[in-house]
Amino acid sequence: MRVLGIESSCDETGVALVDGSGDGVPRLLSHALHSQISMHQAYGGVVPELASRDHIRRVLPLTREVLAGAGLSLQDVDVVAYTQGPGLAGALLVGAGVAASLGAALDRPVLGVHHLEGHLLSPFLSADPPEFPFVALLVSGGHTQLMRVDDVGSYELLGETIDDAAGEAFDKSAKLLGLPYPGGPHLSRLAEQGQADAFALPRPLLHSGKPDFSFAGLKTAVLTQVRRLEQQSGGITEGQRADLAASTQAAIVEVLVKKSLLALKETGLKRLVVAGGVGANRHLREQLNAACERRKVRVHYPELHLCTDNGAMIALAAALRLQRDMGALTRGGGFEVRPR
Ligand code: KG4
Ligand code: ZN
Repeated sequence: MRVLGIESSCDETGVALVDGSGDGVPRLLSHALHSQISMHQAYGGVVPELASRDHIRRVLPLTREVLAGAGLSLQDVDVVAYTQGPGLAGALLVGAGVAASLGAALDRPVLGVHHLEGHLLSPFLSADPPEFPFVALLVSGGHTQLMRVDDVGSYELLGETIDDAAGEAFDKSAKLLGLPYPGGPHLSRLAEQGQADAFALPRPLLHSGKPDFSFAGLKTAVLTQVRRLEQQSGGITEGQRADLAASTQAAIVEVLVKKSLLALKETGLKRLVVAGGVGANRHLREQLNAACERRKVRVHYPELHLCTDNGAMIALAAALRLQRDMGALTRGGGFEVRPR
């Protein structure tokens, strides 16, 4: 069973082909990605209309590339999967429309996949795939959640952010420091040169005793520090920027680590899966690895290039669902997106 997956929820067009034959972990045959980051950078964030248009331009050439990479043709595709949501409505419609058209033309079933389920299951494509059950820390640009995962489709939300997501906190703080969009990786790089204890920034809800998060106050605290430095000395030095970046990263990571440990303790589970764009953060990985090693907890990550949005995770999630007869397949061209 070969599944073609199409991701177009935001600013990356991703296409991939996964082989989900049998009941073993599905195998990635080929994947291709086009990032729109450089196109949106001039605007400091994603421009939805531009995103949709670029997905239209990219999706078929990427599909051809993926098929060529696997040495296969469209006729070899058994199921077409696409990201149903959440995401930008116009962007999602591109993937959904192309998936429905391919399904209708090839007479193949089409399956809509939840974007977060794709992220959550992406570590199954790594060399060291996890086993169920596990606690999942899902940290992306739009979501920050802790979940108990007993199997594909069996997800219990343990806690989530009450305001901004962790990736949003990275991106908004980075913007305040004058870094380009998307700020997470830039802030993380700048932080390598700074002192994490240089600025006292808040760790909201750190002691709430629940696996919940709040990051909105952090960007305000960063803004306050930037303004104070500008008023005091007319500007912010390179060293201060690096210190502020390191302090911001440390604040976000400390909360993510502490809440992950709390969720592990609450559930009694000894396995943690980290997924979503922020899962690429080096400091987060180091801190989580150290804390989990002390507690004999195994941590699993997606491969670095599959942390951020991609088509492989969508094809994989679809294949895992289909192996368990869980997919709500449609035939004949109808499709649906769920932006929220
Ligand atoms: O999962 P993702 O690609 O898209 C969403 O579904 O949101 O996550 C994107 C987020 C952005 O906020 C980006 O800044 C953040 O992940 N990110 C990082 C790093 N790489 C990506 N944040 C911190 N450190 C990184 N190395
Ligand atoms: Zn994502």
